[in-house]
Amino acid sequence: MPCLDNSNPSSSSSLSQSKKRPSALDPDFGTDSNNNSADGLPPMKRNKGESGERSEKSKTPKVESDSDTASAKKSKLAKNPYLAHLEDDENNSNNESNSKGKQPLYTTEDSGFAGMVRHQTTAEQVSRVEHEEYNAFTNRAHTQQYFRILETRKGLPVHKQRQEFLDMYHSTQILVFVGETGSGKTTQIPQYILYDEMPQLNRKMIACTQPRRVAAMSVAQRVADELDVKLGEEVGYSIRFENCTGPKTLLKYMTDGQLLRESMNDPDLSRYSCIMIDEAHERTLATDILMALLKGLALRRSDLKIIIMSATLDAQKFQRYFHNAPLLAVPGRTHPVEIFYTPEPEKDYVEAAVRTVLQIHATEAEGDILLFLTGEDEIEDACRRINLETDEMIRESDAGPMTVYPLYGTLPPHQQQKIFDKAPDPFKKGGRPGRKCIVSTNIAETSLTIDGIVYVVDPGFSKQKIYNPRIRVESLLVTPISRASAKQRAGRAGRTRPGKCFRLYTEKAFKQDLIEQTYPEVLRSNLSNTILELKKLGVEDLVHFDFMDPPPPETMMRALEELNYLACLDDDGNLTQLGNMASDFPLDPSLAVMLITSPEFYCSNEILSIVSLLSVPQLFMRPASSRKRADDAKAQFTHADSDHLTLLNAYHAFKGEELKGTTDMRKWCHEFFLSYRHLTSADNVRTQLKSYMESHGVELISTPWGDKNYYTNIRRALVGGFFMQVAHRQATGKIYRTIKDNQAVIIHPSTGVGTDFDWVVYNEFVLTSKQYIRTVTGIKPEWLLDIAPNYYDLSAFEEGEAKMALKRVADKIKRREAVRSG
Ligand SMILES: Nc1ncnc2c1ncn2[C@@H]1O[C@H](COP(=O)(O)OP(=O)(O)OP(=O)(O)O)[C@@H](O)[C@H]1O
Ligand SMILES: [Mg+2]
Repeated sequence: MPCLDNSNPSSSSSLSQSKKRPSALDPDFGTDSNNNSADGLPPMKRNKGESGERSEKSKTPKVESDSDTASAKKSKLAKNPYLAHLEDDENNSNNESNSKGKQPLYTTEDSGFAGMVRHQTTAEQVSRVEHEEYNAFTNRAHTQQYFRILETRKGLPVHKQRQEFLDMYHSTQILVFVGETGSGKTTQIPQYILYDEMPQLNRKMIACTQPRRVAAMSVAQRVADELDVKLGEEVGYSIRFENCTGPKTLLKYMTDGQLLRESMNDPDLSRYSCIMIDEAHERTLATDILMALLKGLALRRSDLKIIIMSATLDAQKFQRYFHNAPLLAVPGRTHPVEIFYTPEPEKDYVEAAVRTVLQIHATEAEGDILLFLTGEDEIEDACRRINLETDEMIRESDAGPMTVYPLYGTLPPHQQQKIFDKAPDPFKKGGRPGRKCIVSTNIAETSLTIDGIVYVVDPGFSKQKIYNPRIRVESLLVTPISRASAKQRAGRAGRTRPGKCFRLYTEKAFKQDLIEQTYPEVLRSNLSNTILELKKLGVEDLVHFDFMDPPPPETMMRALEELNYLACLDDDGNLTQLGNMASDFPLDPSLAVMLITSPEFYCSNEILSIVSLLSVPQLFMRPASSRKRADDAKAQFTHADSDHLTLLNAYHAFKGEELKGTTDMRKWCHEFFLSYRHLTSADNVRTQLKSYMESHGVELISTPWGDKNYYTNIRRALVGGFFMQVAHRQATGKIYRTIKDNQAVIIHPSTGVGTDFDWVVYNEFVLTSKQYIRTVTGIKPEWLLDIAPNYYDLSAFEEGEAKMALKRVADKIKRREAVRSG
């Protein structure tokens, strides 16, 4: 393994330079040695009466000039949140040319790292640095809080094995790391690496991926606290549409999807010296693809280190996959978690869960509660019930206060962050303790430490994506969790003190009925998006792509076929220009294609709105207590030809009202039974997508309002993306059949489409006790032949009512053309 500090001539020359520690750790150091801020500062100690921070003066001009150049060069790219790091690169000068030695680098001699050699550090050396008065990365005096946390960190199980970890890290390129939940993997290991990699030497960062945004954000905050730095500076995070990193960032937590996106623009991931794939047991699509890419990348980049981490991992499988990589297993938990099972299976798990929460509140000692349920509606309903019952308990039996927080993926980040608020105080001093209760989907299942959580309630279910390639339907089904998930859930208790986990199923069910690991997402998903990404990454041979678990061939074929029909791949399976562009949009390929092609139909502004509205949950609220009023309110927006246009009408009404500037929009939404939260989030998505369109030169145009083709153009443009999601009405009445997949479906009762169209495009196939299609728009069959002639090539169509109907239409068109021409 090359050690850049030793092998690089420029860095070894700089070793003999100044020993003034402050200058060496300024990430902006280096372009002009005369401009070195150390000249103006005392070498080591600073006046503690000041903020403890070094003068910013000397470095300011350089940062400005760098970012000026950066913004000039990358003005387009900078709009793309996935490419924000390229802009950082310019600011940071964090690139190869620097490490090759044009400019002086940081040196260990100049810093708190004096005497340490990259990739040869010892736990003892690092401990010395960590206990110093001044922070080795920022040169600011350490705070009291820092030392307090440092002491608790020393009690974590991984701490005992720091030297063993370092020894292994030094001797291998890829390492599999397993340690109990709460043992310190996510927060500590990246820091151990940070002190060993010394990113300030080679200007390459350390990345740690998480399957979920909320985990990436909260862990980054914790580690910033532990390192005594400001979040977004030395430690940052990067999630879709939010980049909280800066030119000084050395350690970056990010979602696995985000790192995958970055790899599309930089396949060598050249900005990183070490990449940790955390929670690898979750086997998200992005994790699986990243692992395959990293496995290949490790051969090209011998300087890149890779760590695969989890608490609940089939370690051998991962070791085998990564060329028999060594395993480090850390035993032990921070605090014990006692597990309880129900003696009998529960009939209604939501009911049982609510009851258990209330029982804990009534009888257990102080400590907060985390309850796992499966989805937004269930969670909101449970929160309401818990709130009502708690109020009663407070009135009737003098219970303490309890604040209930929902947590699910579609909640905006600031609302998700509320789960970290402190529990309420008792009503009176010495009274019954106050608690908080978080009711969450499995987004809180891994990684998170929520201070105060002592009790976990686990009913044993989660919503899982299932894909049936035969009918091309992806659906979310409530499914029993795996044993790995159950262990992760229990692991959310016992992090800051001993905990209890109440499993609302029998021990026998845990041992015999639950599967060991959740099936990898790659085996349960529509892969068209993934394949488009892989193509963009330059993967030619998809059949031999090194998936840890290869997806079913039928799923691959379906995806390739779909991308070919969308003209994202040509007949030889190569990425087309359209495909290349579509892969840049954070959307399903069909939506991306619809958006990109919408200017041809003179309605890209409107399609942009519709795509944004389809990217958020249902806008129209329909509370059980006021269904009639909600339906009446919706009727005011309803377009008889199209649910997509109904959505657009509601959005236009919302924006029109907002423009007035005098309306209380929350109230307005409430009156019209619209979700303010989803509308504003759609508006936000729209802004982001608009900037993608602008940077790709996709024109933003509209057919004039009032033109008779205004709505028709939009309906035609919808066919441009949804031509594979079409259903044809059967002669027998209300039943439709999906084209090609030939499934009998009915239109979802929530539709506002009044006319009985023979042909409709639909947004979603919903599987409940019946097969529904939801969010539909009536279309004309001739549009299908005109807009998607390849898909509707009748010579290759299966015989049936749909083919006959289309054939009649094709003949009519031919006759009409013949009359016209002759
Ligand atoms: N925000 C926080 N507040 C208080 N203590 C914390 C916080 N984050 C982490 N800790 C402490 O650090 C310990 C280690 O946390 P860390 O997230 O590194 O564990 P982990 O091994 O990654 O666990 P998991 O497998 O559940 O992801 C926790 O058990 C807890 O004691
Ligand atoms: Mg973790």
